[in-house]
Amino acid sequence: YAHPARDLRPERHPLSVVAHRGASEDAPEHTLAAYRKAIEDGADALECDVRLTADGHLVCVHDRRVNRTSNGRGAVSSLELADLATLDFGSWKADVSDREAPDLDATSVLTLERLLELVADAGRRVELAIETKHPTRWAGQVEQKLLELLGRFGLAGPPADGGPSPVRVMSFSARSLHRVQLAAPALPTVYLMQFLSPRHRDGRLPAGVRIAGPSIRIIRKDPGYVARLHDAGNEVHVWTVNEPEDVELCARLGVDALITNRPKRVLTQLGRS
Ligand code: G3P
Ligand code: CA
Repeated sequence: YAHPARDLRPERHPLSVVAHRGASEDAPEHTLAAYRKAIEDGADALECDVRLTADGHLVCVHDRRVNRTSNGRGAVSSLELADLATLDFGSWKADVSDREAPDLDATSVLTLERLLELVADAGRRVELAIETKHPTRWAGQVEQKLLELLGRFGLAGPPADGGPSPVRVMSFSARSLHRVQLAAPALPTVYLMQFLSPRHRDGRLPAGVRIAGPSIRIIRKDPGYVARLHDAGNEVHVWTVNEPEDVELCARLGVDALITNRPKRVLTQLGRS
């Protein structure tokens, strides 16, 4: 399967603003409220991390454990969806306990299914960048469940309009991306990088991957990496870009997407809101 090529010239391909865990500076990360806000703010895409619960549901949670982002304890993988549904995933960020009617959208665990519904109802194109977390522990189950779910929403195959897929799968694990490529060749994959390994320094990525996801630290240290990745035919999606000088750097270097906790401020800086 050949992915439709994007025209990478900046005037044809404006910098895409991706809301990292939703508008996670303003609302508790990975809650429906954070994603609603990101859509309202005008984000081009939403980023989310997915994990499997003990009973096989994909939920949007970043850490292995729920301790930091909820009032519960324990690993997501040892809890069932019904257990997670009893927890408060919002109050750690903002005290909502004194509100008369607690905003469930800002405190409930979010399933990937619910996020896909939100995107389907957005009324405009909103892309999704889904990150598989620690997939090696699950021997392919995360990817299998993910592709099943995307299939139910008609998002696993080539888009009917022949354009670029609105969904991409990201991972620090090349093995996870490889599984996705084999089972769903139409889905673009993004290889995330925390550090620049010598293997990828020249701009080449793991087989079949056409989008690099370097951290902003890599780009600050080696701004020429963006051009090397482009010259090798890859797109560049940088995370997590919150500071105005980093937004400026990414825009100047012509990166294709930046992943940020503050989509509204970034869109304003880029003159888009
Ligand atoms: O978008 C990629 C970025 O989210 C990777 O780091 O730890 O925030 O998932 P992390
Ligand atoms: Ca992530």
